[in-house]
Amino acid sequence: MALLIKNGTIVTAGEQMQADIYCEGEQISRIGKHLDAPPDTTVIDATGKYVFPGFIDPHVHVYLPFMGTFAKDDYISASKAALIGGTTTLIEMVCQARNGRPLADGFEFWMSQAAGKSACDFTFHQSVTRYDAQVEAELTEIVKAGVASFKVFLAYKGAFGITDEELYHTLRLAKKLGVIVTAHCENADLVLELQKQLLNEGKTGPEYHYWSRPPRVEAEGVHHLLSFAEMTGAHTYIVHTSCEEALREAMAGKDRGLNVWVETLIQYLVLDKSYAELPNFEGAKYVMSPPLRDKKNQDVFWNALKQRFVSTVATDHAPFDFKGQKEMGRDDFTKIPNGIPSLEDRVNLLYTYGVTTGRLDLNTFVDCASTQAAKLFGLFPRKGTIAVGSDADLVVYDPNYRGVISAKTHHINLDYSAFEGWEIKGRPSVVTVRGEVAVRDGEFVGTIGRGQFLKREPTHF
Ligand code: URP
Ligand code: ZN
Ligand code: ZN
Repeated sequence: MALLIKNGTIVTAGEQMQADIYCEGEQISRIGKHLDAPPDTTVIDATGKYVFPGFIDPHVHVYLPFMGTFAKDDYISASKAALIGGTTTLIEMVCQARNGRPLADGFEFWMSQAAGKSACDFTFHQSVTRYDAQVEAELTEIVKAGVASFKVFLAYKGAFGITDEELYHTLRLAKKLGVIVTAHCENADLVLELQKQLLNEGKTGPEYHYWSRPPRVEAEGVHHLLSFAEMTGAHTYIVHTSCEEALREAMAGKDRGLNVWVETLIQYLVLDKSYAELPNFEGAKYVMSPPLRDKKNQDVFWNALKQRFVSTVATDHAPFDFKGQKEMGRDDFTKIPNGIPSLEDRVNLLYTYGVTTGRLDLNTFVDCASTQAAKLFGLFPRKGTIAVGSDADLVVYDPNYRGVISAKTHHINLDYSAFEGWEIKGRPSVVTVRGEVAVRDGEFVGTIGRGQFLKREPTHF
């Protein structure tokens, strides 16, 4: 069935125009003024609304075994929530299979979690948590299967973390294969020592999480990664950058000619470390790594987005209930599962706190929430823009909507919202996935399992 979106203001990363969009099958086939269409076409009137390309969240966890428990969402709840919030493509991380089992086992397992369940399109970063000749051969095969990005952790020693030797070889292989390496940058040894010291001093509450991972720990991680990137020529992408110190290290790397890109998260733009200091263990809801920072960092990041020093705004969605999961760390902050879920709210928060306040113009908003992720991760121009031939993933956005975020009404599978009671100004009124209407006025009307795995080609040579 064809789809016609009429009278909207189309906004891409580079343009803004008044025009209609006609979609046949799964792609956009015409863009122009006063388009007409056959009688059985689904017509959406976008008068007074923006039409954005489907948003892309390049850093999401759905199936995540982590810190002795499992993230709460599955692909049904996560993809519905993503779509209601305007996100039409997710990039999740496949964990490397343990006990020497082939890498393909992990990939097949994550595919089995997503395929037949996801209502939106998805693709994966392949995590590398150990490295040897066999892994090298398997990574080469995974890239051929369409996974064109790796993920490494400098933090989480003994779990996801890798050694410097493994980091060096992973980056060398990535350079050879043209694959970008996304990296969690925190010095794992510093974290461990600071954690021990704090616990020995009886500092066990969620507010001490910050002091076990202060800005220098993150900045050192970025510096460390970029020394290895410089030695290998690999292209790198620093995930969840939270503080000015880390951003400065990344900019220093850019200044000396490295191919490095920076992601921040919506949480760091709108929340600060005082939330993790809330009494009665409420702060646990706001524990993630790197931690929420001093408020002064927020202006730094809004400005860095405006100047395009920071390429993307993601969520690092990692949902753990307050009851039973965050509570695992009641007597020891190092046991609080890390994560502040925001998959459903990212776009509305960025619009409300970025666009309506004048911190971001509409084109930059689209660029950092959609287009840059598509470009960096080999999805452009199929995703991340509105153009003839692109997938008809479209968000008809109502800037006049007013609402409030609440765990009572959200669609992720979680017993709290980090943004409980926050006002949002604007939300998607219609969201389409490859030409099919998936959301109308906050209700999911799409098809579970329609989401496709997006095969990607290496582009980072
Ligand atoms: O706190 C976080 N970031 N949780 C998810 C795991 C990760 O580090 O990406
Ligand atoms: Zn991380
Ligand atoms: Zn993550």
